[in-house]
Amino acid sequence: MLGVSGSIAAYKAADLASKLAQAGAQVDTILTRAATQFITPLTFQSVTGRRAYTDDDLWGSEAHVLHIGLGHAADLLVVAPATAHTLAKLAQGLGDDLLGVTALAATCPVLVAPAMDAGMYAHPATQANVAALRGRGVTFVGPEAGHLASGLVGPGRLSEPATILGQIRYLLTRGGPLAGRTVVVTAGGTREPVDPVRYLTNRSSGKQGYAVAQAALDAGAEVILISTVDGLPLPAGAQHQPVETAQQMADAVLAAAAAADVLVMAAAVADFRPAQAADHKIKKESGVPTLELAANPDILLAVADQRRALGRPKVVVGFAAETDDLLKNAQSKLERKGLSFIVANDVSAADAGFAVDTNRVVLLGVDGWSETLPLMSKADVAEKVIERVLRVLGEPAHMDADR
Ligand code: PMT
Repeated sequence: MLGVSGSIAAYKAADLASKLAQAGAQVDTILTRAATQFITPLTFQSVTGRRAYTDDDLWGSEAHVLHIGLGHAADLLVVAPATAHTLAKLAQGLGDDLLGVTALAATCPVLVAPAMDAGMYAHPATQANVAALRGRGVTFVGPEAGHLASGLVGPGRLSEPATILGQIRYLLTRGGPLAGRTVVVTAGGTREPVDPVRYLTNRSSGKQGYAVAQAALDAGAEVILISTVDGLPLPAGAQHQPVETAQQMADAVLAAAAAADVLVMAAAVADFRPAQAADHKIKKESGVPTLELAANPDILLAVADQRRALGRPKVVVGFAAETDDLLKNAQSKLERKGLSFIVANDVSAADAGFAVDTNRVVLLGVDGWSETLPLMSKADVAEKVIERVLRVLGEPAHMDADR
Protein backbone atom coordinates (compact mmCIF):
# COMPACT_ATOMS: atom_id res chain seq x y z
CA MET A 1 0.00 0.00 0.00
CA LEU A 2 1.44 3.36 -1.04
CA GLY A 3 0.13 6.57 0.52
CA VAL A 4 0.99 9.76 -1.36
CA SER A 5 0.52 13.18 0.23
CA GLY A 6 0.70 16.69 -1.20
CA SER A 7 4.33 17.53 -1.86
CA ILE A 8 6.15 18.55 -5.01
CA ALA A 9 8.06 15.28 -4.48
CA ALA A 10 4.85 13.35 -5.33
CA TYR A 11 6.21 12.80 -8.85
CA LYS A 12 8.97 10.65 -7.36
CA ALA A 13 6.28 8.45 -5.79
CA ALA A 14 5.16 7.50 -9.30
CA ASP A 15 8.70 6.29 -10.04
CA LEU A 16 8.69 4.38 -6.75
CA ALA A 17 5.32 2.78 -7.60
CA SER A 18 6.63 1.83 -11.03
CA LYS A 19 9.80 0.25 -9.60
CA LEU A 20 7.74 -1.65 -7.02
CA ALA A 21 5.40 -2.98 -9.69
CA GLN A 22 8.39 -4.03 -11.82
CA ALA A 23 9.78 -5.89 -8.80
CA GLY A 24 6.54 -7.89 -8.64
CA ALA A 25 4.72 -6.00 -5.84
CA GLN A 26 0.97 -5.40 -5.98
CA VAL A 27 0.76 -1.69 -5.29
CA ASP A 28 -2.51 -0.05 -4.21
CA THR A 29 -2.16 3.71 -4.03
CA ILE A 30 -4.05 6.23 -1.91
CA LEU A 31 -3.64 9.91 -2.81
CA THR A 32 -4.57 12.61 -0.32
CA ARG A 33 -6.61 15.54 -1.63
CA ALA A 34 -3.46 17.71 -1.72
CA ALA A 35 -1.52 15.00 -3.57
CA THR A 36 -4.06 15.17 -6.42
CA GLN A 37 -3.02 18.81 -6.93
CA PHE A 38 0.45 17.56 -7.92
CA ILE A 39 -0.24 14.23 -9.64
CA THR A 40 -3.26 12.23 -10.81
CA PRO A 41 -4.54 8.80 -9.74
CA LEU A 42 -4.30 7.81 -13.41
CA THR A 43 -0.50 8.10 -13.25
CA PHE A 44 -0.36 5.49 -10.46
CA GLN A 45 -2.97 3.27 -12.12
CA SER A 46 -0.92 3.35 -15.30
CA VAL A 47 2.36 2.29 -13.66
CA THR A 48 0.92 -0.23 -11.16
CA GLY A 49 -1.95 -1.69 -13.20
CA ARG A 50 -4.12 -1.39 -10.07
CA ARG A 51 -6.68 1.05 -8.64
CA ALA A 52 -5.43 4.31 -7.19
CA TYR A 53 -7.81 5.69 -4.56
CA THR A 54 -8.71 9.22 -3.50
CA ASP A 55 -11.01 10.70 -0.88
CA ASP A 56 -13.86 10.46 -3.41
CA ASP A 57 -13.68 6.70 -2.80
CA LEU A 58 -13.96 7.26 0.96
CA TRP A 59 -17.36 8.81 0.48
CA GLY A 60 -18.39 6.42 -2.28
CA SER A 61 -20.46 3.25 -2.05
CA GLU A 62 -17.53 1.06 -0.83
CA ALA A 63 -16.69 3.55 1.90
CA HIS A 64 -17.70 1.62 5.00
CA VAL A 65 -15.30 -1.24 4.24
CA LEU A 66 -12.80 0.13 1.77
CA HIS A 67 -10.23 1.34 4.27
CA ILE A 68 -10.56 -1.80 6.40
CA GLY A 69 -10.07 -3.98 3.32
CA LEU A 70 -7.09 -1.94 2.13
CA GLY A 71 -5.53 -1.75 5.59
CA HIS A 72 -5.83 -5.47 6.28
CA ALA A 73 -4.65 -6.58 2.84
CA ALA A 74 -1.40 -4.61 3.02
CA ASP A 75 1.92 -6.30 3.87
CA LEU A 76 3.47 -2.86 4.27
CA LEU A 77 2.13 0.71 4.34
CA VAL A 78 4.56 3.14 2.71
CA VAL A 79 3.79 6.86 2.99
CA ALA A 80 5.95 8.67 0.44
CA PRO A 81 6.13 11.59 0.30
CA ALA A 82 4.84 12.31 3.82
CA THR A 83 4.22 16.04 4.36
CA ALA A 84 4.39 17.70 7.79
CA HIS A 85 0.57 17.67 7.83
CA THR A 86 0.34 13.94 7.01
CA LEU A 87 2.98 13.14 9.64
CA ALA A 88 0.90 15.05 12.19
CA LYS A 89 -2.26 13.18 11.17
CA LEU A 90 -0.52 9.80 11.41
CA ALA A 91 0.96 10.72 14.80
CA GLN A 92 -2.42 11.86 16.15
CA GLY A 93 -4.34 8.97 14.61
CA LEU A 94 -6.72 11.26 12.73
CA GLY A 95 -9.15 9.54 10.40
CA ASP A 96 -10.57 12.40 8.37
CA ASP A 97 -9.44 11.10 4.98
CA LEU A 98 -8.92 7.74 3.24
CA LEU A 99 -5.18 7.59 3.98
CA GLY A 100 -5.79 8.41 7.66
CA VAL A 101 -8.47 5.76 8.19
CA THR A 102 -6.52 3.16 6.23
CA ALA A 103 -3.43 3.84 8.35
CA LEU A 104 -5.60 3.33 11.46
CA ALA A 105 -6.96 0.07 10.08
CA ALA A 106 -3.58 -1.27 8.93
CA THR A 107 -1.89 -3.89 11.09
CA CYS A 108 1.24 -4.17 8.93
CA PRO A 109 4.61 -2.39 9.39
CA VAL A 110 4.66 1.28 8.32
CA LEU A 111 7.46 3.06 6.44
CA VAL A 112 7.38 6.85 6.21
CA ALA A 113 9.47 8.97 3.82
CA PRO A 114 9.09 12.65 4.81
CA ALA A 115 9.40 15.53 2.35
CA MET A 116 9.02 19.17 3.37
CA ASP A 117 10.92 22.38 3.84
CA ALA A 118 13.90 22.15 6.22
CA GLY A 119 12.35 24.57 8.72
CA MET A 120 9.08 22.63 8.79
CA TYR A 121 10.98 19.40 9.39
CA ALA A 122 13.04 20.97 12.18
CA HIS A 123 9.93 22.45 13.86
CA PRO A 124 9.42 20.99 17.36
CA ALA A 125 5.87 19.92 16.43
CA THR A 126 7.12 17.87 13.47
CA GLN A 127 10.00 16.42 15.49
CA ALA A 128 7.57 15.41 18.24
CA ASN A 129 5.38 13.70 15.64
CA VAL A 130 8.40 11.86 14.20
CA ALA A 131 9.41 10.75 17.70
CA ALA A 132 5.87 9.58 18.49
CA LEU A 133 5.68 7.55 15.30
CA ARG A 134 9.14 6.06 15.84
CA GLY A 135 8.08 5.13 19.36
CA ARG A 136 5.18 3.21 17.83
CA GLY A 137 7.53 1.19 15.64
CA VAL A 138 7.19 3.22 12.45
CA THR A 139 10.35 3.14 10.29
CA PHE A 140 11.61 6.35 8.67
CA VAL A 141 13.66 6.73 5.51
CA GLY A 142 15.11 10.21 5.00
CA PRO A 143 14.59 13.04 4.60
CA GLU A 144 17.85 13.76 2.80
CA ALA A 145 19.68 17.07 2.96
CA GLY A 146 19.85 19.12 -0.23
CA HIS A 147 18.25 21.88 -2.29
CA LEU A 148 14.58 22.30 -1.43
CA ALA A 149 11.70 23.71 -3.46
CA SER A 150 11.74 26.83 -1.25
CA GLY A 151 15.31 27.61 -2.32
CA LEU A 152 16.65 26.68 1.12
CA VAL A 153 19.27 23.99 1.61
CA GLY A 154 18.87 21.45 4.41
CA PRO A 155 17.17 18.21 5.42
CA GLY A 156 13.76 17.88 3.79
CA ARG A 157 14.22 16.18 0.42
CA LEU A 158 12.37 12.94 -0.22
CA SER A 159 14.82 10.02 -0.34
CA GLU A 160 15.49 8.68 -3.82
CA PRO A 161 13.10 5.90 -4.92
CA ALA A 162 15.99 3.38 -4.96
CA THR A 163 16.73 4.17 -1.30
CA ILE A 164 13.06 3.82 -0.31
CA LEU A 165 12.90 0.60 -2.33
CA GLY A 166 15.87 -0.76 -0.34
CA GLN A 167 14.06 -0.08 2.95
CA ILE A 168 10.89 -1.70 1.61
CA ARG A 169 12.90 -4.77 0.60
CA TYR A 170 14.39 -4.92 4.11
CA LEU A 171 11.05 -4.59 5.91
CA LEU A 172 9.29 -7.14 3.71
CA THR A 173 11.95 -9.80 4.28
CA ARG A 174 12.11 -9.73 8.09
CA GLY A 175 10.23 -13.00 8.42
CA GLY A 176 12.64 -14.98 6.21
CA PRO A 177 14.34 -18.27 7.10
CA LEU A 178 17.35 -16.48 8.66
CA ALA A 179 15.16 -14.28 10.91
CA GLY A 180 16.77 -13.89 14.31
CA ARG A 181 20.19 -14.93 12.95
CA THR A 182 23.21 -12.66 12.66
CA VAL A 183 25.35 -13.00 9.55
CA VAL A 184 28.75 -11.30 9.36
CA VAL A 185 30.01 -10.64 5.83
CA THR A 186 33.36 -9.19 4.76
CA ALA A 187 33.89 -7.44 1.44
CA GLY A 188 36.58 -5.65 -0.54
CA GLY A 189 40.35 -5.70 -0.63
CA THR A 190 42.26 -4.56 2.45
CA ARG A 191 44.54 -1.53 2.11
CA GLU A 192 47.95 -1.77 3.70
CA PRO A 193 49.59 1.64 4.11
CA VAL A 194 53.04 2.29 2.64
CA ASP A 195 53.10 5.95 3.67
CA PRO A 196 50.36 8.58 4.30
CA VAL A 197 49.44 8.72 0.58
CA ARG A 198 50.09 5.19 -0.73
CA TYR A 199 48.86 1.71 0.09
CA LEU A 200 49.11 -1.87 -1.17
CA THR A 201 45.80 -3.41 -2.17
CA ASN A 202 44.22 -5.79 -4.70
CA ARG A 203 41.51 -5.76 -7.37
CA SER A 204 38.54 -6.70 -5.17
CA SER A 205 35.61 -4.31 -5.74
CA GLY A 206 33.46 -5.69 -2.90
CA LYS A 207 30.63 -6.58 -5.32
CA GLN A 208 30.54 -10.26 -4.39
CA GLY A 209 30.59 -9.55 -0.66
CA TYR A 210 27.87 -6.88 -0.95
CA ALA A 211 25.75 -9.35 -2.93
CA VAL A 212 26.16 -11.92 -0.14
CA ALA A 213 25.12 -9.29 2.42
CA GLN A 214 22.00 -8.50 0.33
CA ALA A 215 21.13 -12.20 -0.04
CA ALA A 216 21.46 -12.71 3.74
CA LEU A 217 19.22 -9.66 4.36
CA ASP A 218 16.70 -11.03 1.84
CA ALA A 219 16.64 -14.25 3.88
CA GLY A 220 15.71 -12.22 6.98
CA ALA A 221 19.09 -12.07 8.73
CA GLU A 222 20.58 -9.18 10.64
CA VAL A 223 23.75 -8.43 8.71
CA ILE A 224 27.02 -6.90 9.84
CA LEU A 225 28.99 -5.88 6.75
CA ILE A 226 32.68 -5.33 7.46
CA SER A 227 34.14 -3.75 4.37
CA THR A 228 36.86 -1.61 2.86
CA VAL A 229 34.55 -0.42 0.07
CA ASP A 230 33.66 3.25 -0.58
CA GLY A 231 31.75 3.34 -3.85
CA LEU A 232 28.98 0.73 -3.58
CA PRO A 233 25.47 1.45 -2.23
CA LEU A 234 25.10 -0.14 1.20
CA PRO A 235 22.33 -2.78 1.23
CA ALA A 236 19.44 -1.35 3.27
CA GLY A 237 19.35 -2.68 6.80
CA ALA A 238 22.99 -3.81 6.89
CA GLN A 239 25.06 -2.55 9.79
CA HIS A 240 28.22 -1.25 8.12
CA GLN A 241 31.60 -1.40 9.82
CA PRO A 242 34.18 0.32 7.60
CA VAL A 243 37.76 -0.91 7.90
CA GLU A 244 40.95 -0.46 5.88
CA THR A 245 43.68 -2.88 6.91
CA ALA A 246 43.75 -6.63 7.46
CA GLN A 247 44.45 -6.03 11.16
CA GLN A 248 41.39 -3.76 11.47
CA MET A 249 39.30 -6.34 9.61
CA ALA A 250 40.61 -9.11 11.90
CA ASP A 251 39.66 -7.11 15.02
CA ALA A 252 36.19 -6.30 13.67
CA VAL A 253 35.52 -9.87 12.47
CA LEU A 254 36.62 -11.50 15.74
CA ALA A 255 34.45 -9.12 17.78
CA ALA A 256 31.37 -9.60 15.56
CA ALA A 257 31.85 -13.36 15.04
CA ALA A 258 31.74 -14.02 18.79
CA ALA A 259 27.96 -13.38 18.75
CA ALA A 260 27.19 -14.36 15.15
CA ASP A 261 25.53 -17.41 13.64
CA VAL A 262 27.28 -17.19 10.27
CA LEU A 263 30.49 -15.66 8.91
CA VAL A 264 31.08 -15.30 5.18
CA MET A 265 34.61 -14.09 4.34
CA ALA A 266 34.31 -12.77 0.78
CA ALA A 267 36.97 -10.09 1.35
CA ALA A 268 40.34 -10.31 -0.36
CA VAL A 269 42.60 -9.91 2.66
CA ALA A 270 46.23 -8.97 2.02
CA ASP A 271 48.53 -11.70 3.30
CA PHE A 272 51.36 -9.17 3.70
CA ARG A 273 51.71 -5.51 4.66
CA PRO A 274 54.64 -3.11 4.65
CA ALA A 275 56.49 -3.95 7.87
CA GLN A 276 56.79 -0.25 8.70
CA ALA A 277 54.55 2.38 7.12
CA ALA A 278 56.54 5.62 6.63
CA ASP A 279 55.33 8.65 8.67
CA HIS A 280 55.94 11.02 5.76
CA LYS A 281 55.41 10.73 2.03
CA ILE A 282 58.31 8.78 0.52
CA LYS A 283 60.06 11.21 -1.89
CA LYS A 284 61.34 10.03 -5.21
CA GLU A 285 64.48 12.12 -4.71
CA SER A 286 65.42 9.60 -1.98
CA GLY A 287 65.79 6.86 -4.63
CA VAL A 288 63.81 3.66 -5.22
CA PRO A 289 62.72 2.39 -1.79
CA THR A 290 62.87 -1.23 -0.68
CA LEU A 291 59.66 -2.39 0.97
CA GLU A 292 60.06 -4.94 3.69
CA LEU A 293 56.87 -6.90 4.21
CA ALA A 294 55.40 -8.50 7.32
CA ALA A 295 52.73 -11.22 7.52
CA ASN A 296 49.16 -10.17 8.28
CA PRO A 297 47.04 -12.25 10.63
CA ASP A 298 45.06 -15.02 8.94
CA ILE A 299 41.55 -13.97 9.98
CA LEU A 300 39.88 -17.31 9.29
CA LEU A 301 42.50 -19.20 11.31
CA ALA A 302 41.93 -16.82 14.23
CA VAL A 303 38.15 -17.31 13.85
CA ALA A 304 38.66 -21.09 13.94
CA ASP A 305 40.51 -20.80 17.30
CA GLN A 306 37.83 -18.52 18.76
CA ARG A 307 35.08 -20.78 17.43
CA ARG A 308 36.53 -23.80 19.19
CA ALA A 309 36.28 -21.86 22.47
CA LEU A 310 32.91 -20.10 21.94
CA GLY A 311 31.00 -22.44 19.61
CA ARG A 312 30.26 -19.50 17.31
CA PRO A 313 29.74 -18.80 14.47
CA LYS A 314 27.87 -21.99 13.71
CA VAL A 315 28.69 -21.72 10.01
CA VAL A 316 31.93 -20.28 8.58
CA VAL A 317 32.27 -19.81 4.84
CA GLY A 318 35.50 -18.87 3.07
CA PHE A 319 36.21 -17.89 -0.51
CA ALA A 320 39.28 -19.02 -2.44
CA ALA A 321 40.42 -16.82 -5.30
CA GLU A 322 42.60 -19.05 -7.48
CA THR A 323 44.24 -18.86 -10.89
CA ASP A 324 45.59 -22.47 -10.92
CA ASP A 325 44.57 -25.82 -9.45
CA LEU A 326 41.24 -24.32 -8.30
CA LEU A 327 39.72 -27.32 -6.56
CA LYS A 328 42.96 -28.65 -5.02
CA ASN A 329 43.90 -25.26 -3.55
CA ALA A 330 40.35 -24.54 -2.38
CA GLN A 331 40.08 -27.98 -0.74
CA SER A 332 43.32 -27.38 1.15
CA LYS A 333 42.08 -23.94 2.40
CA LEU A 334 38.74 -25.49 3.39
CA GLU A 335 40.51 -27.97 5.65
CA ARG A 336 43.34 -25.77 6.93
CA LYS A 337 41.02 -22.86 7.86
CA GLY A 338 38.40 -25.06 9.54
CA LEU A 339 35.49 -23.95 7.31
CA SER A 340 31.97 -25.30 6.91
CA PHE A 341 32.33 -24.80 3.17
CA ILE A 342 34.38 -22.79 0.70
CA VAL A 343 33.47 -20.93 -2.49
CA ALA A 344 36.20 -21.81 -5.00
CA ASN A 345 36.49 -18.84 -7.31
CA ASP A 346 38.36 -19.19 -10.60
CA VAL A 347 39.65 -15.65 -11.09
CA SER A 348 41.61 -16.40 -14.28
CA ALA A 349 38.62 -15.80 -16.64
CA ALA A 350 37.68 -12.27 -17.71
CA ASP A 351 33.99 -12.76 -16.81
CA ALA A 352 34.55 -14.06 -13.26
CA GLY A 353 36.26 -13.03 -10.02
CA PHE A 354 37.46 -9.50 -9.36
CA ALA A 355 35.42 -6.38 -10.23
CA VAL A 356 33.06 -7.84 -12.90
CA ASP A 357 29.33 -8.40 -12.26
CA THR A 358 29.39 -12.14 -12.96
CA ASN A 359 31.14 -15.04 -11.29
CA ARG A 360 31.82 -18.75 -11.79
CA VAL A 361 32.31 -20.80 -8.61
CA VAL A 362 32.33 -24.28 -7.14
CA LEU A 363 31.06 -24.80 -3.58
CA LEU A 364 33.03 -27.41 -1.62
CA GLY A 365 31.74 -28.76 1.71
CA VAL A 366 33.86 -30.07 4.56
CA ASP A 367 32.04 -33.40 4.49
CA GLY A 368 32.78 -34.05 0.83
CA TRP A 369 29.85 -32.51 -1.06
CA SER A 370 30.42 -30.13 -3.97
CA GLU A 371 28.22 -28.01 -6.23
CA THR A 372 29.54 -26.62 -9.53
CA LEU A 373 27.69 -23.47 -10.59
CA PRO A 374 27.68 -22.09 -14.15
CA LEU A 375 28.53 -18.47 -14.96
CA MET A 376 25.92 -16.32 -13.21
CA SER A 377 25.46 -12.88 -11.68
CA LYS A 378 27.18 -12.23 -8.35
CA ALA A 379 23.67 -11.78 -6.88
CA ASP A 380 22.77 -15.33 -7.99
CA VAL A 381 26.05 -16.73 -6.60
CA ALA A 382 25.24 -14.99 -3.32
CA GLU A 383 21.77 -16.57 -3.23
CA LYS A 384 23.32 -20.01 -3.77
CA VAL A 385 25.78 -19.38 -0.93
CA ILE A 386 22.96 -18.36 1.43
CA GLU A 387 20.83 -21.35 0.33
CA ARG A 388 23.76 -23.58 1.27
CA VAL A 389 24.21 -21.74 4.60
CA LEU A 390 20.54 -22.51 5.36
CA ARG A 391 21.07 -26.18 4.57
CA VAL A 392 24.11 -26.37 6.85
CA LEU A 393 22.27 -24.53 9.65
CA GLY A 394 19.29 -26.86 9.21
CA GLU A 395 21.31 -29.98 9.91
CA PRO A 396 21.61 -30.64 13.64
CA ALA A 397 25.07 -32.15 13.10
CA HIS A 398 26.26 -28.71 12.00
CA MET A 399 24.63 -26.70 14.79
CA ASP A 400 27.31 -27.13 17.44
CA ALA A 401 30.29 -25.60 15.69
CA ASP A 402 31.68 -28.96 14.68
CA ARG A 403 31.50 -27.89 11.04
O1 PMT B 1 35.13 -8.09 -4.63
P1 PMT B 1 34.85 -8.54 -6.04
O2 PMT B 1 35.48 -7.63 -7.07
O3 PMT B 1 33.38 -8.79 -6.28
O4 PMT B 1 35.60 -9.95 -6.25
C1 PMT B 1 35.18 -11.07 -5.53
C2 PMT B 1 36.37 -11.88 -4.99
C3 PMT B 1 37.15 -12.47 -6.15
C4 PMT B 1 37.30 -10.99 -4.14
C5 PMT B 1 35.75 -12.99 -4.06
O5 PMT B 1 34.86 -13.76 -4.82
C6 PMT B 1 36.82 -13.90 -3.47
O6 PMT B 1 37.24 -14.87 -4.07
N1 PMT B 1 37.28 -13.55 -2.24
C7 PMT B 1 38.40 -14.21 -1.54
C8 PMT B 1 39.69 -13.64 -2.07
C9 PMT B 1 40.87 -14.16 -1.33
O7 PMT B 1 41.52 -13.39 -0.66
O8 PMT B 1 41.08 -15.43 -1.37
P2 PMT B 1 42.32 -16.18 -0.63
O9 PMT B 1 42.39 -17.48 -1.33
O10 PMT B 1 43.52 -15.30 -0.58
O11 PMT B 1 41.81 -16.38 0.86
C10 PMT B 1 41.04 -17.52 1.27
C11 PMT B 1 40.07 -17.12 2.36
O12 PMT B 1 40.81 -16.71 3.52
C12 PMT B 1 39.17 -15.97 1.98
O13 PMT B 1 37.88 -16.21 2.51
C13 PMT B 1 39.83 -14.77 2.67
O14 PMT B 1 38.87 -13.78 3.03
C14 PMT B 1 40.46 -15.40 3.90
N2 PMT B 1 41.69 -14.76 4.37
C15 PMT B 1 42.72 -14.49 3.52
C16 PMT B 1 43.88 -13.93 4.00
C17 PMT B 1 43.97 -13.62 5.38
N3 PMT B 1 45.06 -13.04 5.88
N4 PMT B 1 42.95 -13.89 6.21
C18 PMT B 1 41.82 -14.49 5.73
O15 PMT B 1 40.89 -14.76 6.50
